[in-house]
Amino acid sequence: MFLYLLLFPSLATSLLTTTTTTQCRSFCGTIPINYPFGIDDGCGAIQLRHTLNCTSPDLFFLTPSGSYKVQHIDYLKSTLTIYDPSMSTCSILQPHHDFLMTDIQTAVIPPSSDTVFALLNCSVDSPVLNHYRSLCFNVSSHSCDELYASCNAFRVFRLLTNSTPPCCFTGYDTVRYMSMNILDCSHYTTVVDADGMRGVSPLDWVYGIKLSYGLPDRGCDRCSASGGTCGFDTETEGMLCLCSGSSNGTRQCGEISMLCHYH
Ligand SMILES: *[C@@H]1O[C@H](CO)[C@@H](O)[C@H](O)[C@H]1NC(C)=O
Ligand SMILES: *[C@@H]1O[C@H](CO)[C@@H](O)[C@H](O)[C@H]1NC(C)=O
Ligand SMILES: *[C@@H]1O[C@H](CO)[C@@H](O)[C@H](O)[C@H]1NC(C)=O
Ligand SMILES: *[C@@H]1O[C@H](CO)[C@@H](O)[C@H](O)[C@H]1NC(C)=O
Repeated sequence: MFLYLLLFPSLATSLLTTTTTTQCRSFCGTIPINYPFGIDDGCGAIQLRHTLNCTSPDLFFLTPSGSYKVQHIDYLKSTLTIYDPSMSTCSILQPHHDFLMTDIQTAVIPPSSDTVFALLNCSVDSPVLNHYRSLCFNVSSHSCDELYASCNAFRVFRLLTNSTPPCCFTGYDTVRYMSMNILDCSHYTTVVDADGMRGVSPLDWVYGIKLSYGLPDRGCDRCSASGGTCGFDTETEGMLCLCSGSSNGTRQCGEISMLCHYH
């Protein structure tokens, strides 16, 4: 190795100045952190860089609209469930705000198809009641009335007008393209596992946002199988297999380096 470094000083410099973090933590509190996620820079998939923040014991998912507490990561189903503490639910009414993700986040870890955005107290002029009516769908036949009636937080929508203001169950794409102001609905809530909501009262719905991730397979299995952790070079952003003890490989640990060809 020393001879090699003497012969190729420029390469030695590049080896020594690689600036990814030394260790990839594999837990944040009780939540296991595996590929494609990483809480230390240089760990996990490059597309999800700067997406998680572990402020132990809590894990947060960061988007342009805020920092959302991660409830659960299901590595088998490739989902991550977050909760927005400033969102309205059946039991608490909060001022509305938008839920925004970056384009990369929308591409690699969008809300799952069974995460429903319920737009509440919409004005009769709302686009989702008119031109974009088709964006609203039936969620196991639950009605606005049922929501306003069962939830302490939403009863106020009927009280003031003595009528049932329209609501709309829709998907993330609707909120993505139209802000709450354009939608002309004063509040929203989000529910996960819409598939299992038949006959379940809004009081017992699971409020939150389930994200479903899918990333191109870049050979991480091979790196893990060789005892490494998948990561990336924080400067070049190229994939790295981070290996303890032995030197890091581009694809796997214990890679035969070019050096060996000279023996
Ligand atoms: C492997 O990469 C990590 C992160 O870049 C670095 O801290 C470590 O020193 C590297 N190990 C070797 C043997 O080069
Ligand atoms: C995580 O969030 C905390 C609190 O906002 C902040 O101080 C810290 O720098 C963040 N860490 C990373 C790695 O972004
Ligand atoms: C419901 O929406 C109307 C506008 O359409 C608004 O004036 C009213 O304040 C909203 N109700 C609540 C409780 O925010
Ligand atoms: C949605 O469900 C309601 C009952 O809550 C029903 O009256 C309506 O026809 C359904 N609409 C569609 C498009 O299935």
